[in-house]
Amino acid sequence: MIKPHGAEYLQPLIVSNAAQNAALLATAERLPSLLVNSAAAANAVMLGAGYFTPLRGYHDRADTLSIADKMHTTDGLFWPVPCVNLTHAADGITPGARVALRDPNVDGNPVLAVQTVSKVEQLTAAELEHIAERVFGTVDRAHPGVATFLEQGSTLLAGPIQVLNYSYFERDFPETFRTATQIREEIVQHGWKNVVAFQTRNPMHRAHEELCKMAQAAVGADGVLIHMLLGKLKKGDIPADVRDAAIRKMVELYFPANTVMITGYGFDMLYAGPREAVLHAVFRQNAGCSHLIVGRDHAGVGSYYGPFDAQKIFDDQVPAGVLTIKIFEADNTAFSKKLGRVVMMRDAPDHAPEDFVQLSGTKVRDMLAAGQALPPEFARPEVAKILMHYYQNEG
Ligand code: ADX
Repeated sequence: MIKPHGAEYLQPLIVSNAAQNAALLATAERLPSLLVNSAAAANAVMLGAGYFTPLRGYHDRADTLSIADKMHTTDGLFWPVPCVNLTHAADGITPGARVALRDPNVDGNPVLAVQTVSKVEQLTAAELEHIAERVFGTVDRAHPGVATFLEQGSTLLAGPIQVLNYSYFERDFPETFRTATQIREEIVQHGWKNVVAFQTRNPMHRAHEELCKMAQAAVGADGVLIHMLLGKLKKGDIPADVRDAAIRKMVELYFPANTVMITGYGFDMLYAGPREAVLHAVFRQNAGCSHLIVGRDHAGVGSYYGPFDAQKIFDDQVPAGVLTIKIFEADNTAFSKKLGRVVMMRDAPDHAPEDFVQLSGTKVRDMLAAGQALPPEFARPEVAKILMHYYQNEG
């Protein structure tokens, strides 16, 4: 199987031994504690689950700036998005301290991880904006990822962590949340050699279904890993439990048995477009996948990124050889009325835009909210039914 990023073996930071976990939790209850923000908590979950191999904890100022500028740490590790614990209130926390990191997303704020703080550093407002500009390509606070990042505070707590649990993800998504370790194990159980990963934060329609099938055939993969984001999203995005149900129905009805793993990971959406696509590639490599699908406006929001910027970054800015995982670059995909099937537009050069069935996200939402059926060329009826139920009741 493909090796993890920058390491021979996966390095999950979860304390998996039950006795050691209980002992660390007991110790943690006596340590000074810090209520972290959701992004820092999500970083801890990803570190715990092995997805962020070979990181040992949160980046310091020098690495944060170096990653923002060059996608490399100061000692030369390729890494696309800083993994930080930024806070407003580090009163009394000094270098060398062990701190219990409390979970903002679980009632009662239980301890999520224990950090050994190596450095306490201040970032200036100009440095924070510079990092946002490099990572998100903008400092516009209307960008949801930028707004979240710039609200986190300016004190950076660096240092290694030990992770005690996976926050709310195991409890809320027991069938779907998987660690990188578990995914690697399941790939071995399936006897798969090549696996193509599909990143998603949306329900999957016919274009997405076909994209997975086309990618699997094109790269000769034994199976598809549907790997959905289970963390926080911007307002208006469809909640994970609804997406999960819709995706499960689609796979049950429209994929050959035993060719798809339906899984999810515990991370908040950054909406960082190209940089997030590279992070996606790193952690799918860590999950044992040989390929990642990157299509139109991957991890994008609004019109901050060009439709294929998230593919270009792999060609222009990711040095050859730093990643082993390969990218399947998908063109815009839609149902062709002329051919009667879903195609990538580059495979239908004679088509005009009106030869395709295309609906914007807003149009889809409006139709479902109004109880109007989606065209079967766009969405599988069984999937559309689940989404309509959501929009009519909660959306
Ligand atoms: S993302 O933010 O997680 O990337 P989404 O779930 O919408 O959003 O997309 C999942 C993947 O499918 C991404 O790689 C995206 O680029 C790709 N994709 C979505 N829709 C299309 C489409 N119509 N044509 C080509 N690629 C698409």
